[in-house]
Amino acid sequence: MKTTISEVGKHVGETVTIGAWLANKRSSGKIAFLQLRDGTGFIQGVLVKAEAGEETFQKAKELTQESSLYITGVVREDDRAPSGYELTVQGFEVIHEANDYPITPKEHGTEFLMDHRHLWLRSKRQHAIMKIRNEIIRATYEFFNDNGFVKVDPPILTGSSAEGTTNLFHTKYFDEDAFLSQSGQLYMEAAAMALGKVFSFGPTFRAEKSKTRRHLIEFWMIEPEMAFMDHEESLQLQEAYVSFIVQSVLEKCPLELQALERDTSKLENVKAPFPRISYDEAIEFLKEEGYEIEWGEDFGAPHETAIAEKYDKPVFITNYPKDIKAFYMKPHPERDDVVLCADLIAPEGYGEIIGGSQRIDDEELLKQRYDEHNLSQEAYQWYLDLRKYGSVPHSGFGLGLERTVGWISGTEHVRETIPFPRLLNRLYP
Ligand code: 4AD
Ligand code: MG
Repeated sequence: MKTTISEVGKHVGETVTIGAWLANKRSSGKIAFLQLRDGTGFIQGVLVKAEAGEETFQKAKELTQESSLYITGVVREDDRAPSGYELTVQGFEVIHEANDYPITPKEHGTEFLMDHRHLWLRSKRQHAIMKIRNEIIRATYEFFNDNGFVKVDPPILTGSSAEGTTNLFHTKYFDEDAFLSQSGQLYMEAAAMALGKVFSFGPTFRAEKSKTRRHLIEFWMIEPEMAFMDHEESLQLQEAYVSFIVQSVLEKCPLELQALERDTSKLENVKAPFPRISYDEAIEFLKEEGYEIEWGEDFGAPHETAIAEKYDKPVFITNYPKDIKAFYMKPHPERDDVVLCADLIAPEGYGEIIGGSQRIDDEELLKQRYDEHNLSQEAYQWYLDLRKYGSVPHSGFGLGLERTVGWISGTEHVRETIPFPRLLNRLYP
């Protein structure tokens, strides 16, 4: 019976065949332990010389790391194995023999591993992170579909910028200039006026000269946009969504979290509602803590971490000064120096995972912002049209997938949270 490692539990006591790679092995004179992986999971194969025979045992001792095999054996329950099962190997057939696999079980430096990212992905740790990433994506679709949202795909090649002009990737578009999308938001606002509640999931690009553990050049964003929803309703949606993905990972990925030695007690607590602190209060708090920061300045990573450390859940920082936020944010009804926005800061120092706001819905005010930000009326006329024909209050947000994967999986650096990271100075592999 052909099966996969994830399915062996259904075949206890039976003889099965699995297509697998040899991740690692150890052997003595009488017994060989084969660490097998097949993409669905990891399992130990135990091959006893006295049972499998001299010839098979010798062949097993000569197996090289990352060779591919069809391996046959009996499934046994085993409490000591993380997955709960082990394979008593009867025999195997080598599909392809791998020689001199570069990533050996010893320690390797980060640059070496990054140069071998195409192979490094096979490791138990990277496998676990990719499975958690996948679960967050799956849970995202479930959450938004169950809440009446329509998935809409904004363009990647654009003629306008959503998040400022300093970090745009520029390209030729026949005789015109085009940019790689920094955010699908402006298009999602148009989609919300057509479909009510919408969400996107796609790659975004920022030519940021930042070399930090939180910045990628190419990253994936989930961007919901909701017609007839104000800022407060959007915050409630955000905390419900983030709670849902965290609880889904806890439920569906116990083996992966265990492989990563993630302290899950810190995640169990992540349930709505989340604490909130205004920008004003955050500045006061930081000053009391001895940080040199003045009202009107943006927070850096150390500031965000100091604020996040006060709480055991993600925290919303609300109502930032208008001058440090994007042109499209709606002013606070009682104060025109701050806007109706919030950043969601993850606990444990993982930083900002969501940026969101209520959007300007008044045509005249938006026109004024175009002038203040030197945005061309021509390129942004379509966006103004949304305020011209049945404008409504609307809000939305963007969740950065990689930072969220980093936080939930407990991975220090975002470079490990995406299969092939694009970083400053790295385009290979
Ligand atoms: O805060 P940002 O810039 O917000 C927007 O782009 C809005 N237009 C979203 C919207 O309202 N629809 O980015 C949103 C999130 C950040 O909170 C962060 O998680 C992530 O995207 N992000 C990055 N992740 C990795 N590398 C980078 N260089 C990132 N820049 C932003
Ligand atoms: Mg932001």
